[in-house]
Amino acid sequence: MNEEKNYRAELTACFGDPVDENPTGVIEEAGYSALGLNYRYLTIRVQKDGLAAAVAGARAMGFKGFNLTIPHKVAVIQYLDELTEAAEIIGAVNTVVNQGGRLIGENTDGKGFLTSLLQNDVNPAGKTVTLLGAGGAARAVSVELALAGASHITIINRSKERGMELAEAVKEKTKAASTYIPWIEGVSIPEETDIIVQCTNIGLFPDVNGKPLIDYSSLTPRMVACDVVFNKPDTLFLQEARARGLKTINGLGMLVNQAVLNFKMWTGMEAPADIMTQALMNEFGI
Ligand SMILES: NC(=O)c1ccc[n+]([C@@H]2O[C@H](COP(=O)([O-])OP(=O)(O)OC[C@H]3O[C@@H](n4cnc5c(N)ncnc54)[C@H](OP(=O)(O)O)[C@@H]3O)[C@@H](O)[C@H]2O)c1
Repeated sequence: MNEEKNYRAELTACFGDPVDENPTGVIEEAGYSALGLNYRYLTIRVQKDGLAAAVAGARAMGFKGFNLTIPHKVAVIQYLDELTEAAEIIGAVNTVVNQGGRLIGENTDGKGFLTSLLQNDVNPAGKTVTLLGAGGAARAVSVELALAGASHITIINRSKERGMELAEAVKEKTKAASTYIPWIEGVSIPEETDIIVQCTNIGLFPDVNGKPLIDYSSLTPRMVACDVVFNKPDTLFLQEARARGLKTINGLGMLVNQAVLNFKMWTGMEAPADIMTQALMNEFGI
């Protein structure tokens, strides 16, 4: 063998179920290829009862790290060695990094969202934010916006327990104030809202005709409307908001920014963000 050659690949992955529609591998591999790294990103269907074995396998094979998606973001915590502060507060992990054999859990969903906001010249510091939903994405977004200085976070959620629990967590663990509003059909968005974030899976492929049942006349042009759903990116929620004069931000920026953060954690190198963004745009034909 040529002494300069090293055929050993460094492995990264996404474990979830379903994962067929998850495009993160396209973004990460575009970055690896651009920098000439011998890294791979494998998108792997891991069912609920297979998670322990999958994490043990990743550990045994010395994976650089991996992403978790539905239904593993909370369940994975018991198999990890440590959590970052944000992952601890959020209570969910979407990214694991292998640091010398120790598996560290982080959550880059909210950080990816925050970066996307800032890239669109929207700074959440001192702002009043309203979130639709209280699941994993809503937890990550609300905690990161609160840590970035948002002054008030209102949670509108269908199930009362989940909504109240998230509002309580934000109040207890960050400096932001937080309120829960039950999601009854036609619920109004509080008029003091500066930023509204759609954090449910309404509108997600294949149910692209889904639209959150809120009072759209309560949206005013001074608000900014964001959606975390990225497939398809221009959701009906964003279309309704734009029709009422609101600035809108889709979920693609959040997706690509969390992939950029993961890249740096796994390779230790700055990610070629422009190339990774372009790969995602090509994938969505934008
Ligand atoms: N852009 C990105 O990078 C990115 C990253 C992460 C996630 N996401 C997207 O975020 C979305 C949510 O993911 P998740 O992990 O937060 O899911 P999750 O933990 O299952 O939470 C789903 C949330 O949606 C609510 N919901 C679902 N259907 C509803 C309906 N018909 N009416 C009202 N509320 C409804 C649920 O309310 P209940 O509590 O009442 O059930 C819950 O609050 C997904 O579409 C995912 O693709 C995007």
